[in-house]
Amino acid sequence: MRLRPGRLVGTFLALLPWWLLVTEFNLCSAIASQTDGNQVDSPRERIRLRTGWKFWRFESRPDNLVYEPRPYANESGLFVLKPWILPTANEFIEKTENRHEVPSEDPAIDIPYVKDSFDDSDWEDVKVPHDWAIKGPFYTNGDESPITGQMGSLPLHGVGWYRRRLSLSPSDVGKSIYLEIDGAMSYSAVWVNGKIIGGWPYGYNSYHLDITSHLKEGDDNMLAIRIDNPPDSGRWYTGAGLYRNVWLTKVKPVHVARWGTYITSEIAGDSASIEFAVNLENKAEEQTNVTVQTDIFEVDSTNGRPARPVASFPSSSVIIPADGQKSILTSATIQNPRLWGPPPSQSPNLYLATTTVLHGGKVADTYETQFGIRSLTFGGDGFSINGERLRFQGVNQHHDLGALGAAYNHKAAERQLRLLREAGVNAIRMAHNPPAPELLELTDRLGFMVIDEIFDVWKYDKNIADFSLIFTDWHEPDVKTFVRRDRNHASIIMWSIGNEVGEQGGSTGFDIATELSKILHEEDNTRPIMASLNSATASHKFPQALDVLGLNYIGEGMEYPGYSVLPEPRRQPLYESFHEAFPDKLLFSSEFAWSLSSRSSFIFPVTEYDGAPVLDHSGGDVNTLEISGHELYSSNWSVSHDIVFTVQDQLPYLAGGFLWSGWDYLGEPYPWPQARSAYSGMIDLAGFKKERFWLYQSQWNPTVRMAHVLPHWSWPGREGEITPVHVFTSADEAELFVNGKSQGNLKRKEFEYRFRWDNVTYEPGELHVITYKNGEFWANETVTTTSDGFKLDLTAEFENIDADGEDLTWIAVRVLDEQGRMVPEADEIVTFSLSGPGEIVATDNGFQADFVAFPSNERKLFNGLALAIVRANSPGKIVVAAETEGFQRAELVIEAV
Ligand code: GAL
Repeated sequence: MRLRPGRLVGTFLALLPWWLLVTEFNLCSAIASQTDGNQVDSPRERIRLRTGWKFWRFESRPDNLVYEPRPYANESGLFVLKPWILPTANEFIEKTENRHEVPSEDPAIDIPYVKDSFDDSDWEDVKVPHDWAIKGPFYTNGDESPITGQMGSLPLHGVGWYRRRLSLSPSDVGKSIYLEIDGAMSYSAVWVNGKIIGGWPYGYNSYHLDITSHLKEGDDNMLAIRIDNPPDSGRWYTGAGLYRNVWLTKVKPVHVARWGTYITSEIAGDSASIEFAVNLENKAEEQTNVTVQTDIFEVDSTNGRPARPVASFPSSSVIIPADGQKSILTSATIQNPRLWGPPPSQSPNLYLATTTVLHGGKVADTYETQFGIRSLTFGGDGFSINGERLRFQGVNQHHDLGALGAAYNHKAAERQLRLLREAGVNAIRMAHNPPAPELLELTDRLGFMVIDEIFDVWKYDKNIADFSLIFTDWHEPDVKTFVRRDRNHASIIMWSIGNEVGEQGGSTGFDIATELSKILHEEDNTRPIMASLNSATASHKFPQALDVLGLNYIGEGMEYPGYSVLPEPRRQPLYESFHEAFPDKLLFSSEFAWSLSSRSSFIFPVTEYDGAPVLDHSGGDVNTLEISGHELYSSNWSVSHDIVFTVQDQLPYLAGGFLWSGWDYLGEPYPWPQARSAYSGMIDLAGFKKERFWLYQSQWNPTVRMAHVLPHWSWPGREGEITPVHVFTSADEAELFVNGKSQGNLKRKEFEYRFRWDNVTYEPGELHVITYKNGEFWANETVTTTSDGFKLDLTAEFENIDADGEDLTWIAVRVLDEQGRMVPEADEIVTFSLSGPGEIVATDNGFQADFVAFPSNERKLFNGLALAIVRANSPGKIVVAAETEGFQRAELVIEAV
């Protein structure tokens, strides 16, 4: 599918008649992201509200307030805030008659927490982003817990109040001041100086409030934010509180509106024509005449700052009515553009459009919009970017950052992407909600293609307190804020309006999909829309409403020998039928291989098949809650990696897909609800690579010379027993030796993705594999039986970090034997300690059923490894130590600058 340029703008302008058409506007393939950054010399100020917060969480309602009573709960007698919250959505609601009236009175209820006089001195001091639930402790009484394993067994429910002062200097008087919240989980409501201003229920979207008229000069403006996060609101760990950044933006009354630019481009021959729309807002009481000038710079890929100027849009003058908006539409050409595309074959080149608004000869505002230029083609025969046919080597990612919870941390988000890139991942599906905006800046810069997804449910619920409760009121504003915030990002290549929604079967699903697509395409018509399918078939009406087709698990079917233990009938494969019914629509897998493992746990016997379901005593161990790292076991609903690779390689029209999942995440500990985190990542929750990491690297990053052998070779008590050996490598030939004896030389056959020697008998000593590619040596690896643990060993991912209280380093501890070899099944409890100007933020070991709270300095090694996450609060030397009885302790130094 080639998206039609032009349609968007026509509709866009029809919807926004107050926009002034200055130059002709032809929209094409879109790409850009506004950085919202401050510029030197700009009157625009964007202040991050990171410190100075006081916080308290109440497990039950302390204030008798509720957004709206939840139908399943006994919530009578509460004061309903909904009429004060709904008007926040007004600017995102098209029809005037659907907009909400702002109540003329404040809520008739006394709320102590919003008052300046309230004594919050014993409340907790917190920094935002803040996730109140992540410190735990974990609930461990299973189904009796208020939050079960499904949502991570952490105390994410309850009401949290955040309070903070805001200052308004004499020079701020007369400015327009906006509070911008990148994400608040959930049902946030905002008061300034005792007056309710608005709020936003959906915790994953960004929103803003104009608080200008509620502030007074001085330092004692009281901002109070109430969060009401219900239990049972989703299918995974949501996090809780002000878990993304909160900003205060101060601008002159005439300024570029929030999310007020939109850049698209079309490549023709050696040049790209760039179309630019800027929406100007005038909050003054009289009309204002401004001149707008926008220049385009190449972005220096090393420092992210503007480098060479490459083009300018013609400057325009416009009159903006009092308390009104106007848009300017203009175009420019860039010769020989440097395109944005995913590495390794392409580079993520970016541009920056800097907009200057001049009023009376003075700069009234400046605004930066980062964008990239690329062409996307979606067809029945596959996907291309900049003319290169690529398959999605994608992963699904949840929003949590493991032991750090949902609180956004840039370095931790970058770490997730860095490890995924090492495996050869080129695309991320944001499952199943919009991410922190900074994550999209990372995907732009690093060159990951992104599916940006908005909903996991529509009207039919998946959990009793999920978005279905508010879909009717909020779907339009939520879709609009989602697209307006994100549509300039180069990395976003498609939008998803839903994941496995319950409405796929009947006509309701088709109708809702059509409505959501209309709303979305009016905001951006340059990318296709999908909704992942897991129950619709090609003959349903639902897929007809979608531009591209992403199937979750149903493409491959379940008719493979290893799955014959599952009840009949087993699912038939559906890719062919979808391709036949929709020969022009891009077809890919939005989720594949819901397969499960614990890092470096190996359970015997090993299935002889290339995939099998995890059962309580086969592939997994219900007593230890571990699943085998042979990477052959999957859920009852999906097949293993090796089978997925085979199917993808047999269907040339299939545009690849997205593994479920890139990293393990909190919640959804299928198949064992008694655990606390998911088993499905190629990287565990702590960031240690699971075996499957190398399976994917062998397929998706095949130039890496490696041969990864499993299992480890330290099995006291297994002597004489069959212990199969598998090797992941991109080589085409491999020979395995046990203590020098060949176990056979294997040549890779078509549709084989691992070498396996199923009849190896365990004897202590040395396992050695040599691999070859095209007859030449490729890589080798040796695994030896270790002796008893002797000492601890620490390694830091970063030895130098910024002393800004946010930068992090990750320190792994392992046990070595006297010869310096890692003892693979070490399970001692290690105590971490730290001296110097830093702190241990959290520890983890990646085991899905470890219930020790994350802030604990004591952590049991899981299969030989544990992790401490360290940050620096001021410059200096930080010494981190690890000890456990009987072993030499270890120490290392981190420099904080
Ligand atoms: C899918 C769903 C995901 C996740 C996955 C496996 O059906 O879309 O959100 O639940 O299964 O855990």
